[in-house]
Amino acid sequence: MLEISNLNQFYGGSHTLWDVSLQVPAGSCTCLMGRNGMGKTTLLKCVMGLLPAASGQILYQGRDLRGLPAEARAPLRIGYVPQGREIFSQLTVEENLRIGLAVRRPRVRDVPEQVYEMFPVLKQMLRRRGGDLSGGQQQQLAIARALVLDPALLILDEPTEGIQPNIVHEIGDVIIRLNREVNLTVLLVEQKLPFARRVASDLRVLDKGRLVVSGKIEALTDELVRTHLTV
Ligand SMILES: Nc1ncnc2c1ncn2[C@@H]1O[C@H](COP(=O)(O)OP(=O)(O)O)[C@@H](O)[C@H]1O
Ligand SMILES: [Mg+2]
Repeated sequence: MLEISNLNQFYGGSHTLWDVSLQVPAGSCTCLMGRNGMGKTTLLKCVMGLLPAASGQILYQGRDLRGLPAEARAPLRIGYVPQGREIFSQLTVEENLRIGLAVRRPRVRDVPEQVYEMFPVLKQMLRRRGGDLSGGQQQQLAIARALVLDPALLILDEPTEGIQPNIVHEIGDVIIRLNREVNLTVLLVEQKLPFARRVASDLRVLDKGRLVVSGKIEALTDELVRTHLTV
């Protein structure tokens, strides 16, 4: 579904991604792991066209995304939930969701009912301002907003960061449903081991900007955790 080859990225003179080659198989829930500062968010931003890559290829369904503007992703049915959520705190829940509608192709008038089925709590809160929601509810809103555009590939950057455990579990349920029942391909950055083991099928690990592990989630052994994930 997504095939990244020999990707290099620099922040000014600082070489951040080194020849990264990484595949997200269609139908998988691929978890990208790594300590803080290893380049996970940078990689996702390159895929989303929010950062330029110096070299390499980012093939999505056989077509190179590099050089396409960021806005080109939504019509290609790539949904993105950024780290830190980035919902609009001054807008209502409904207005936040309608932003997703604006970029959906072909156009539809209303937020699809399936989105509310995934997150019933949002339906009760349509008039609330985003900023008045709890952290967990904001995260659910950010995921719902990405779902509004009917993605085939959903990219999530640390969706459980700073969120209370019961909502973490609910978000896990939603990701599992989307992946296994709705057949969405998922690329997920995650630091929590039990969560990754529960939802993911595949594992990729970045260490200092280099891909060091590529396998099934069962490869997430204690030894791998010691070598690449704990500080
Ligand atoms: N806008 C930026 N300008 C310069 N350096 C950055 C910027 N964003 C991130 N970095 C650096 O790039 C490296 C990778 O960051 P990031 O991709 O955010 O890591 P991760 O998501 O794995 O925690 C880090 O060393 C970070 O300090
Ligand atoms: Mg990050």
